Amino acid sequence: MVPKITTLSGYIHEYQKSIANPTGFWANIAETFYWRKKWDTILEWDFQNPRIEWFKGGQLNITENIFERNQFLLGDQTAIIWEPNDPKEEARKISYNELFTEVQKFANVLRSHGVRKGDRVAMYMPMIPELTIAMLACARIGAIHSVVFAGFSANALAERIIDAEAKVLVTADGGFRGQKIIHLKDVVDEAMVDCPSIVSSIVVKRTGHNIGWNPKRDYWWHDEMAQADAVASAEIMDAEDPLYILYTSGSTGRPKGVLHTTGGYMVYTAYTFRNVFQYSSGDVFFCAADIGWVTGHSYIVYGPLLEGATSVMFEGIPTYPDAGRYWDIIKKHKVNQFYTSPTAIRSLIAQGQGWVQDIDLTDTLRVLGTVGEPINEEAWHWYHDHIGNNKCPIVDTWWQTETGGIMISAIAGVIPTKPAFASLPLPGIQPQIVDPEGKKLCGKGVEGNLCIKFPWPGMARSHWGDHERYVESYFSQYKGLYFTGDGVKRDEDGYYRILGRMDDVINVSGHRLGTAEIENAINEHPLVSESAVVGFPHDIKGQGIYAYVVCTDIPENSEEELKNSIKKGVSKMISPIARPDQILFVSGLPKTRSGKIMRRILKKIAAGSEEYGDISTLTNPEIVEEIVDKNINLNH
Ligand code: WTA
Repeated sequence: MVPKITTLSGYIHEYQKSIANPTGFWANIAETFYWRKKWDTILEWDFQNPRIEWFKGGQLNITENIFERNQFLLGDQTAIIWEPNDPKEEARKISYNELFTEVQKFANVLRSHGVRKGDRVAMYMPMIPELTIAMLACARIGAIHSVVFAGFSANALAERIIDAEAKVLVTADGGFRGQKIIHLKDVVDEAMVDCPSIVSSIVVKRTGHNIGWNPKRDYWWHDEMAQADAVASAEIMDAEDPLYILYTSGSTGRPKGVLHTTGGYMVYTAYTFRNVFQYSSGDVFFCAADIGWVTGHSYIVYGPLLEGATSVMFEGIPTYPDAGRYWDIIKKHKVNQFYTSPTAIRSLIAQGQGWVQDIDLTDTLRVLGTVGEPINEEAWHWYHDHIGNNKCPIVDTWWQTETGGIMISAIAGVIPTKPAFASLPLPGIQPQIVDPEGKKLCGKGVEGNLCIKFPWPGMARSHWGDHERYVESYFSQYKGLYFTGDGVKRDEDGYYRILGRMDDVINVSGHRLGTAEIENAINEHPLVSESAVVGFPHDIKGQGIYAYVVCTDIPENSEEELKNSIKKGVSKMISPIARPDQILFVSGLPKTRSGKIMRRILKKIAAGSEEYGDISTLTNPEIVEEIVDKNINLNH
């Protein structure tokens, strides 16, 4: 197990050590894992011509570090507690031994479908244990998993499968979410029309409803598993061999396939998991994220399982059958650490005090966490007072798909917290704040763009098939620094407060969406000639989506109809999570002389501000007045 910091002076000591000698620091932690062959070099890196290699020459398999390393200690211990959508259905407890067997069987299934080291396997799954099994089975045989969030549309799924040239798809007939059945297999069938790389799709039976079937391509999971051998050798991987791809949005149109590799990711997720949440053996950890996002990858699957934890996986939603569901799960499974998003907290606050009035969860609950977006003070206090009964520290964890694991966060009970502050960098993390021109802002009480100046083992190494874009996305703005895309403030105590994205990415309910991606989808509508999308403050979702749309023609009295059909188009092209909350039809967009849309102004208008700054550089300053008037009408 990785070493655990337990005191503030211990944190300060470890932090200083990690800065003075980063490679020695991480090598010590890496030593606690099982390597088939030890690394030749701890770190080789260059942020000018970006290339990052940790533990180069080292050989390992991450699943051997989950299973074989811990087998004698953990065999019968519960690895996964699976809580179904419907509380009337029985929860499943899967021990490390059972999970290991399932993983090996599915590894053999994948091998029997021709999957080899380096091949890509896509997953489009509900939150069921088979998803974790499939991911680990890939890792067992050196295949690269690419999990696509099950809320994405057929078009978005196909785009991701095509980009990764996935060979096999693992999916389910459907999934349960609240009262709804999500018809995943229908979406898959629609997507498959465009995905010639897929040779087999393996389908878990979850809902049992009728689905389409292609006998040349579709196989039932249970049939395949019934025939599979229960022993599968681990493929020996280089530390820098890819572990997975996870698509996320950036400021340009296409989603990017963030690539994580094996050794560094393993060390980083395990270390951050144990320390931030102060996990002790025997604890029950509940991360309520979906595995379709990075939080689920790092803190439902890899971090906890590498540290021999018991990890709760929840299929449903926080408001089904009622808004007390999370609290019931915490009670039922005696959860010690609970990790969720500010949006989930805000949506539960909106359900009223009744659900939290008489509960005390602190018999077992010790730590609360948040992730994915800034948490407002009101939500922070509600979480702290009502869920933690003023006893549980909140770790507000700042990180990104690209960072692999938590970067800036309190360590529970060790680093004192402040509402709405992510607090201090974890050991090994060296933040650097810069102004827009790249000037380094040092000392306390400064605000600017958040960069990181030294590599950490969990960082993404590339974008799948497009290293140039990786370089462009993070290393081109400020030479020699990794730019996160976030704004940040460092206060007088040296505490960091994340201010949100500085680029054209919107964070809706903790889901990252690129404005360009949404604009592309809107522009597909036959009556739309141009659009601009910005975020605006939203009470529950953190940010909502505001679309300014220019149409070639709006047939009389059909504005509402047109808005609905544009929204439908976006759902179909991307996902219902990308549907604009507000659409405003305008006759033009404010542009600079070089033709660039002035989003700064559009953001201000969407936020209801009357300070637009300088508009004299626009080619069409008169448009601003029109947009402001129309926006006022829209909101009244
Ligand atoms: C935002 C999610 C404020 C931030 C793990 C970042 C946060 C983006 C926090 C990454 C936090 C994440 N406080 N903002 N604690 N955590 N963010 O890739 O803007 O889905 O850049 O990773 O979420 O989102 P992603």
